[in-house]
Amino acid sequence: MKLKVLIADKFPDKYIQELKDLGLEVIYEPKLGEKDLPKAAEDVDILVVRSTIVNEETINSSKTLNLIIRAGSGVNNIAIQAANKKGIYVANCPGMNAVAVAELTMGLMIALDRFIPDNVSDFNNGIWNKDKYSKGKGLKGKTLGLIGVGNIGKEVAKRALAFEMNVYGKDISRIEGVPIKDFSEMDKLLELCDVVSIHLPATPLTKGLFNKQMFSCMKNGAYLINTSRHDIIVEEDLLEAIKEKNIRYACDVFKGEPEGKSGEVKSILQGNPNIYVTHHIGASTEQAQDAVAQETINIIKHFVHSGVIDHWVNRAKQIDVKYQLVVKHFDKPGVLASVLDIIKDANINIEEIENIIFEGGIAACCTMKLRSPASADMIKKMRELPNILSVSHVEL
Ligand code: 3PG
Repeated sequence: MKLKVLIADKFPDKYIQELKDLGLEVIYEPKLGEKDLPKAAEDVDILVVRSTIVNEETINSSKTLNLIIRAGSGVNNIAIQAANKKGIYVANCPGMNAVAVAELTMGLMIALDRFIPDNVSDFNNGIWNKDKYSKGKGLKGKTLGLIGVGNIGKEVAKRALAFEMNVYGKDISRIEGVPIKDFSEMDKLLELCDVVSIHLPATPLTKGLFNKQMFSCMKNGAYLINTSRHDIIVEEDLLEAIKEKNIRYACDVFKGEPEGKSGEVKSILQGNPNIYVTHHIGASTEQAQDAVAQETINIIKHFVHSGVIDHWVNRAKQIDVKYQLVVKHFDKPGVLASVLDIIKDANINIEEIENIIFEGGIAACCTMKLRSPASADMIKKMRELPNILSVSHVEL
């Protein structure tokens, strides 16, 4: 039976053909939205989305869903907790659109400094205003603070250095997995910066990070750019900071962004001369879409051919195990089952298990991560089983 893949967002044609060539049944429905997905994804094996929301209902009503691929970087549009409960893999394509987002960031930086959108709009309205628009500060020699120095932050740094800016960065990787907001040096960094650019994922740690307190640390007249996620900014506090400190803001993301590709839009950021908003197009260049689509194909290919999930984001980061049992054995039917019986009789839970085979297919090695220790008696029983080469047990 063919594996079914549903692509519920825009995806380049040539890559759809590549999937068909792999022998998969491909359903391409780029117009599907959050509400359509529970029905549409009911009996598919692999679901590919960009920003279309995969909610809990979609995950709970799926019967065969095994892998969700976010053809992009942020996975905050996928109900990962629900996927965790059903053992559905979630993967993304990190870094593939980093250059495109960095390019937009530089575009927004120049737009803020040279008032490009206002220039264009006045011209189209028949207004000539060389005097008003000749007040750019210039970026050379200015200080840029990158908040988040992952794939995108690094690409922005390269480009800003070519513009001869002084580039500082605040990396959050040191605090990932630790439930604290360690942005302790931000106050020192923000007061130095003429331009601040945010490149963080949306997580509970980054939600509302740019609030009144952070804005109070920023320089008067500084530029703030957000091409990452809207949740990081408290928009009401930003509007206050714009009034009080003449901060100029450009972003590609905002609260209330429509799910669809066209339609009406409403935001408290509208109509403010110090704010430029683009239409969440950071990743939408031909180059980035090709790179993301190619990576999506690579993930599917690898999964279909070897069961391995590249860029698997919902694998448990820390598991509660203290013991490891390694059993080397002849690769014959029933050998492992007898070992597992001994573990089962002792009521010990195996958290992770991997069995690999040595070249030639005669010997194999099974590594198990256990929550509680195997007793000396259990190990003795295992060693006495037929076709066992060795048994070792260590505390991790
Ligand atoms: C991402 O997370 O990759 C970007 O926000 C792009 O989103 P998009 O694929 O919906 O344009």
